[in-house]
Amino acid sequence: MNLVKANKESITKASQIIKTGGLVAFPTETVYGLGADALNPLAVAKIFEVKKRPSFNPLIIHIAEKDWLNEFTIYNDERINLIINKFWPGPLTLVLEKKNSVPNIVTSGNPTVAVRMPNHPVALELIKQSETPIAAPSANKFGHLSPTTAKHVHKYLGEKVDLILDGGKSDVGVESTIVHYDNGNFYLLRFGGVTKEELEEVIGEIKLKPHNAKNPNSPGQLPFHYSPNTPLYFFDEKLLSPKKKIGVIFFQNKKVDFEFNIEKFLSLSGDLREAASNLFLFLHELEKENLDYILIEPVEEKGLGKAIMDRLRKATFKHTIPNH
Ligand code: TXA
Ligand code: MG
Repeated sequence: MNLVKANKESITKASQIIKTGGLVAFPTETVYGLGADALNPLAVAKIFEVKKRPSFNPLIIHIAEKDWLNEFTIYNDERINLIINKFWPGPLTLVLEKKNSVPNIVTSGNPTVAVRMPNHPVALELIKQSETPIAAPSANKFGHLSPTTAKHVHKYLGEKVDLILDGGKSDVGVESTIVHYDNGNFYLLRFGGVTKEELEEVIGEIKLKPHNAKNPNSPGQLPFHYSPNTPLYFFDEKLLSPKKKIGVIFFQNKKVDFEFNIEKFLSLSGDLREAASNLFLFLHELEKENLDYILIEPVEEKGLGKAIMDRLRKATFKHTIPNH
């Protein structure tokens, strides 16, 4: 079994695996990552293979100290330091001009690289002991739900990873926010754990990059992603049918006169942080229940609600509404 509790010994073992070009899945505060030595192109190639990820989709490199950023990127703007000091370690990824030290396979040939310092003791210790930045996408098969526990990782990737470090449930539960710095402007590429409002308090206006599904280098801008194996639809009373096995995920307490096979609440108190941290977790749970479909209630699009709704629009996209 390749799944082990994260502790001193297992983290040291994991760092040896990274140093010798292997793959380690590890916890971060957002979701679990599938990691390899970012400076070893052959090791990074294994990530694409195991994840079945298209090679045009670049990876985030994870660093253990803020200073490491200068080794891999070029920038000259005080506002970047403001953001880093405010949000790192944390769920924020910066896309900056890359230095030659970053292999092209990591950035899919882009002149920029995505960097983040995760806020998780296991991740930080692993990166430190590995003495190299760790390239890591979310540890799921391409297009599927992101993993927020070590068991989720094992469900998707099984024994194809050399080691899975179990560090408990990821607190934030949705991926990092991605911000691209380009020519003096900041562009939001993906809604995530740090809200647009929080960022704008520090650096002023952030622009949204226009969507372009044909340009897969724009992260998370593919129309589908994050999908459970069971069809997922936004809650609609028209879809309630006694002949179907239906699971439902409500945001807050809601009364609907229908016998669901299973009913979940993202946050009874209406807290968007709690809701985000339960989102993938509940979808993983319901996916195991052999349901005909899952219904989910939309949440208000403010703060973290934007990241949640972004994931849900993509997760529901590929399923067309059933006849019943
Ligand atoms: O929270 C997270 O960010 C997690 C944890 C493991 O850190 N990682 C994660 O990685 O979500 P991934 O690979 O699933 O998503 C990273 C996104 C991709 O959509 C990719 O296109 C984008 O980041 N990205 C990476 N490098 C980029 C670059 N140089 N320019 C633009 N987008 C980039
Ligand atoms: Mg992902």
